[in-house]
Amino acid sequence: MRFTGKNIVITGAGGDLGLAISERLISEGANVLAVVEREEERTKLDKISPQGVLESFVADVTNTEQVKAYAEKAFSLWGAIDGFVNNAGIQTRVRPIVDFPEADFDRVMAVNVRGVFLGMKYVFPRMRDGGSVVNMSSALGVVGGAGIVAYVGSKHAIVGMTKTAALEVGNRGIRVNACAPGPIAGSMTFKLAEEVFAGSDKTFGETVPLGRHGTPEDVAGLVAFLLSDDSRYATGTVHAVDGGFTTP
Ligand SMILES: NC(=O)c1ccc[n+]([C@@H]2O[C@H](COP(=O)([O-])OP(=O)(O)OC[C@H]3O[C@@H](n4cnc5c(N)ncnc54)[C@H](O)[C@@H]3O)[C@@H](O)[C@H]2O)c1
Repeated sequence: MRFTGKNIVITGAGGDLGLAISERLISEGANVLAVVEREEERTKLDKISPQGVLESFVADVTNTEQVKAYAEKAFSLWGAIDGFVNNAGIQTRVRPIVDFPEADFDRVMAVNVRGVFLGMKYVFPRMRDGGSVVNMSSALGVVGGAGIVAYVGSKHAIVGMTKTAALEVGNRGIRVNACAPGPIAGSMTFKLAEEVFAGSDKTFGETVPLGRHGTPEDVAGLVAFLLSDDSRYATGTVHAVDGGFTTP
């Protein structure tokens, strides 16, 4: 019960990782504001039974007013935010750079980079000193990936923003770390595999040293560690949960 009395905001809460992370935080006693993109995603949260408060809020993370609104909602619920999981993200079509659609590039940057930036910009002022932020990067935030220039660029940008934020808010005791998952069993990984391994039954899981996909719960365990006092001297870091995908 590491999060009893702690108030945590998570974006992308209706997705595969967001749901598992929300469930884990709640199981350890957190009050959670689950930010979802669409109204209908709220029902996915119904299976979680909170011990504290579980509230959902619909917002587009690329929209300044809507980001301000979710930060303000958390503040009005609790008076202060202790943890923030900047998790919403997208990946689009697989194409080499010369064929990569500019609209896809702009969309990925808007959600994955601008969304994460806006989240920190409007949550930091409402955070309690000593709080913890986890920005969701990717294994593809530290290595390249042919055909997904926007995703890879955006996830590298998150690493840079995480380090910058850690420098800026360390004097308030606020820690900012990046989580870097590898291939996690879920719609994002399976959709990418369909394009990358088209016509074969190869999976990303078999390409990593541990020989399997990760589970959303594997990621939730690391995020919970980074939000908790168990990682109290870690900031500005990038933590892999990737089955060894990025092992040199
Ligand atoms: N699944 C993986 O293997 C994997 C690996 C590395 C990193 N990640 C990252 O983890 C995060 C979660 O991924 P996931 O696997 O749960 O994917 P997912 O597609 O299941 O969930 C992503 C969530 O982000 C939300 N979202 C997208 N655009 C939004 C917007 N404009 N405003 C608000 N919400 C928006 C979606 O509604 C969705 O619920 C992403 O940032 C992703 O890049 C995932």
